[in-house]
Amino acid sequence: MNKVNKIAVLTSGGDSPGMNAAIRSVVRACAYYNIESVGIYRGYQGMIEGDFKELNARSVNNIINKGGTILKTARSEEFRTVEGRKKAFENLKKKNIDAFVVIGGDGSFTGAEIFNEEFNFPVIGIPGTIDNDIFGTNFTLGYDTALNTAVEAIDKIRDTASSHNRLFFVEVMGRDVGHIALNVGVGAGAEEILIPEEDLGLDRLLESLKKSRKSGKTSSIVVVAEGDKTGENVFELAKYVEENMPNYEVRVSVLGHMQRGGAPSCFDRVLASRMGVKAVEVLLEGKSNFMVGIHDNEITLTSLDLAIKGETKINTELIKVSDIMTT
Ligand code: F6P
Repeated sequence: MNKVNKIAVLTSGGDSPGMNAAIRSVVRACAYYNIESVGIYRGYQGMIEGDFKELNARSVNNIINKGGTILKTARSEEFRTVEGRKKAFENLKKKNIDAFVVIGGDGSFTGAEIFNEEFNFPVIGIPGTIDNDIFGTNFTLGYDTALNTAVEAIDKIRDTASSHNRLFFVEVMGRDVGHIALNVGVGAGAEEILIPEEDLGLDRLLESLKKSRKSGKTSSIVVVAEGDKTGENVFELAKYVEENMPNYEVRVSVLGHMQRGGAPSCFDRVLASRMGVKAVEVLLEGKSNFMVGIHDNEITLTSLDLAIKGETKINTELIKVSDIMTT
């Protein structure tokens, strides 16, 4: 493998808090090791269009605390085609870029893996998504911030729920997984937590809500993951419960994209800083096709292939804890 003298960095897929801190870390690590760095705008689409900018340690001043991504992000259909990837490769070569770090989710890693296979181009992934659904890391960038954002929002909803004696269904993000819902549910003291991995069923949900009402609770919060299959959707679910518990006033609140924004938590900033440094060091050691992750507070490497194919598991202990807390 040729020596790596210039590394590009891009963000791809859905944005998440901590992406900027990771960009900063990659750029500063490059400066520390006396190599050049380049930012690629709008993910793989920008790679295809040659939307590049040379960066240096000062280009990433004052971004560690910012949500979103200064490099912008996109989902590129063109990068799914051989022609698109060929254009991207030619642009990288034209700029003498030797390797890239992609910050994103499994879709972004799939693109990186195919690109590496076709052009033998060194790539490293940093997991950036609020969903925490990437195999090979205990935490993805933005997950911790999103949990805190959602808990803060539900605390506010609780004020209204308890003032009006209402039952609130709060939908949180997680189209395929329930990590956000489960943790936020326990953290915000939800009565029930509905996640895609477990089908509670409408009858058991109703039974549980009736039981808690009977025990003296006058208001409740039910946290529902976006991808939960208990009802058609959160509104249908709420309608069903209202019809079957006429004494309860039911409301729905969908937290939506506000969970993806905002300043990253300290945890996400530190994680991003550690991951960015590791990504650069790994490339300088001549390695490729890995995702940087964290296990038991140690920065680790997992093959991109495994990171893409592996599935994360929910923490079943949290389900038990939640059940006990709703006694
Ligand atoms: O970032 C992941 C995620 O939050 C999913 O949980 C959600 O379904 C998706 O993003 C929505 O993203 P977009 O609106 O960008 O398509």
